[in-house]
Amino acid sequence: ARKLILDTDGGVDDAQALMMLIANGKTPDAITTVFGNVGLDAATRNILTVLEVAGKGSVPVHKGADRPLTQPVIDAKYIHGEDGLGGAPRPARIPDVASTDGVGFLIETFRAAAKAGEKVDILMIGPLTNLALALRLAPEIVPGIGQLTIMGATVYGRGNTTPAAEFNIYADPEAAAIVFGADVETLVAPWEPCVTHFMTGDEVDALLAEIPDSPEKTFSAALVDHARKTTVGYGGPDHFRFVDPLAIAAVIEPELVTKTIRASVDVALAPGIARGMTVVDPSGRLGTPMVTLIEEAKVDRLVALYRASVAYRVTA
Ligand code: BDR
Ligand code: CA
Repeated sequence: ARKLILDTDGGVDDAQALMMLIANGKTPDAITTVFGNVGLDAATRNILTVLEVAGKGSVPVHKGADRPLTQPVIDAKYIHGEDGLGGAPRPARIPDVASTDGVGFLIETFRAAAKAGEKVDILMIGPLTNLALALRLAPEIVPGIGQLTIMGATVYGRGNTTPAAEFNIYADPEAAAIVFGADVETLVAPWEPCVTHFMTGDEVDALLAEIPDSPEKTFSAALVDHARKTTVGYGGPDHFRFVDPLAIAAVIEPELVTKTIRASVDVALAPGIARGMTVVDPSGRLGTPMVTLIEEAKVDRLVALYRASVAYRVTA
């Protein structure tokens, strides 16, 4: 199988997504972290925490960009909690980072792959800054990039952070424009299907009740509890929405995606109400479509992959 890099901003659903990857046999070969849901230090700490909880402390973690290309840093602590993990219990110790040069790591990895005639896949569930920097500094890496999967953007222009923009794009629109402009095969889990693919609170409770208690389950349960409370707190239903986990699930099991749109994607950069909005063009007028955007996926399969993460146990 191809190597897989996870690029993440260390929020609550990033943690769930990483647990799902590990529990379903897709542990990333390396992880790069980025500012986003929380600051870079907290994001990195959170990812190291998940790896420790999951008994995967040997996965190398490279700290990446701590800010967007041009604009000031934003975060989403109002969603993910002050610590970015919604206060989930933490192990006494966490592993060390492998390096503080995430962008350099991406460049080296993709460059080496390109040279060897190979490809490495990358799954991005935070702002797109690290890959944008790598593409700008070393455009020759493109042939080494395999499947790029992104949680981010909107298909129909209904954002979560602004009326027009989704968080991962709005947090660094210039980076997103660079990444979507690259000649790379891309799969996107946009915001809209993340809202329509969910488990109800009752379904989550029933699932949790079936699974025996363990430290891993306690950690997962704290994450899902926080996600539900946040959705309710913002006036939504008591749902656990598949956000980053939707993108992750599509990588673990591509067949669970049942409906997509093929398009090219560009990003509105002008200041004002549309900044960070993604323009999705199936017509080819903005360029050759290189992006597949998920519209529908099998919820029962999402639930099954999620269940595996709650039932996951570290084995000696
Ligand atoms: C994005 O923001 C965060 O809440 C999620 O982790 C995801 O990266 C969704 O807009
Ligand atoms: Ca994220």
